[in-house]
Amino acid sequence: MVLNIPSLSFLTLIFLFSSPLAETIDFSYPAVFNFGDSNSDTGGLVAAGIGESLDPPNGQTYFHKPSGRFCDGRLIIDFLMDAMDLPFLNAYLDSVGTPTFQKGCNFAAAGSTILPATASSVSPFSFGIQVAQFFRFKARVLELLSKSKKPNKYLPLEGYFNQSLYMFDIGQNDLAGAFYSKTEDQVIASIPTILLEFEAGIKRLYDQGARRFWVHNTGPLGCLPQNIATFGKDPSKLDELGCVSSHNRAAKLFNLQLHALCRKLQGQFIDANITYVDVFSIKVNLIANYSRYGFEQPIMTCCGYGGAPLNYDIRISCGQTKTLNGSSVTAKGCNDTTEYVNWDGIHYTEAANQYVSSQILTGKYSDPPFSDKMPFLLKLKF
Ligand SMILES: *[C@@H]1O[C@H](CO)[C@@H](O)[C@H](O)[C@H]1NC(C)=O
Ligand SMILES: *[C@@H]1O[C@H](CO)[C@@H](O)[C@H](O)[C@H]1NC(C)=O
Ligand SMILES: *[C@@H]1O[C@H](CO)[C@@H](O)[C@H](O)[C@H]1NC(C)=O
Ligand SMILES: *[C@@H]1O[C@H](CO)[C@@H](O)[C@H](O)[C@H]1NC(C)=O
Ligand SMILES: *[C@@H]1O[C@H](CO)[C@@H](O)[C@H](O)[C@H]1NC(C)=O
Repeated sequence: MVLNIPSLSFLTLIFLFSSPLAETIDFSYPAVFNFGDSNSDTGGLVAAGIGESLDPPNGQTYFHKPSGRFCDGRLIIDFLMDAMDLPFLNAYLDSVGTPTFQKGCNFAAAGSTILPATASSVSPFSFGIQVAQFFRFKARVLELLSKSKKPNKYLPLEGYFNQSLYMFDIGQNDLAGAFYSKTEDQVIASIPTILLEFEAGIKRLYDQGARRFWVHNTGPLGCLPQNIATFGKDPSKLDELGCVSSHNRAAKLFNLQLHALCRKLQGQFIDANITYVDVFSIKVNLIANYSRYGFEQPIMTCCGYGGAPLNYDIRISCGQTKTLNGSSVTAKGCNDTTEYVNWDGIHYTEAANQYVSSQILTGKYSDPPFSDKMPFLLKLKF
């Protein structure tokens, strides 16, 4: 991976001087509250102890051991926290070791959906539950703060709740999961219902004082080896990038409606700021133009089993050993994770997450766009 600060700063400078319309926004927040799925889960689902575990080589790149993240290293949220000069978020569900929540709390859990979970859901912590967990968190914090005059380094201050950044990255599992039992038309027809649930959660947060919202749209899920292996066996189902067309069409329609919802809410909540971030475009550009960004494998799984073209077998996840056809096989990591966009068939590598984060921080993929991230970009630890 060739990505260094001088080239990044240079590109940012070009952008700064070429986009006079971009708004400047204040990128300093006392704390961050995040809601989402595995794309931003920093340890929630694993801590929940409901059967999901992560084995090495997960976490090998940065944490040097499994870190509760479905990745070899850091996630987009980790890079964004770094850019905001805030520590990595601890998971709400991770209670051991006196984690500090002063600078925020992460309610995201892998496998989570916006719609309420069903018996077959990977995660019971759907969006509404995550929002409810936040309210429980806030109520407990306020109660504890009211009992003691001393500052508590483990808890946010009361005034943080209406100044913090509320981040969201959820919806991918609603779409990906629906394709197992629904036609493309049915999946698309369900999008307004999914987004009504999302809107209800955002409104509850707004009613409780949240004013700064940051919403990631959903990625090109048709480009994930898991979906290609399951839905792309017939080559006519694939687009020019080798991605499942139906899944990417659904993701695009979801994003169009999510974007419209963000604009509508921005109109209603005039004292709030809602930033919509087009992660889809960043990821599809990365997959299409991977070599330009220093990658060698745009789609093939780094940590998987089965070899080219996908190196993905749905029966055996990254780091696991299983008996297939009478012989014991292991889904191993690739030699150089920085050559791969995809980590385990469903999630991106740290190198890809770093690239995506650097693009988010240019401000040009967001609505409204922003441009004053320079001081924060320079703090990014590459
Ligand atoms: C929203 O953004 C505007 C323009 O950057 C800023 O002046 C205002 O303080 C922000 N409001 C909140 C609640 O962050
Ligand atoms: C934020 O909360 C503080 C204390 O909880 C309150 O004094 C202040 O008015 C609130 N600001 C807004 C914009 O709600
Ligand atoms: C790949 O890069 C080219 C040239 O910059 C650009 O026109 C194209 O839109 C990119 N592809 C995607 C899918 O973003
Ligand atoms: C298992 O063995 C059968 C028969 O030899 C073969 O057709 C099949 O491809 C094998 N499957 C795997 C996953 O190796
Ligand atoms: C990984 O490295 C080992 C040892 O250098 C080599 O034998 C193997 O072929 C490499 N695998 C790939 C996929 O490049």
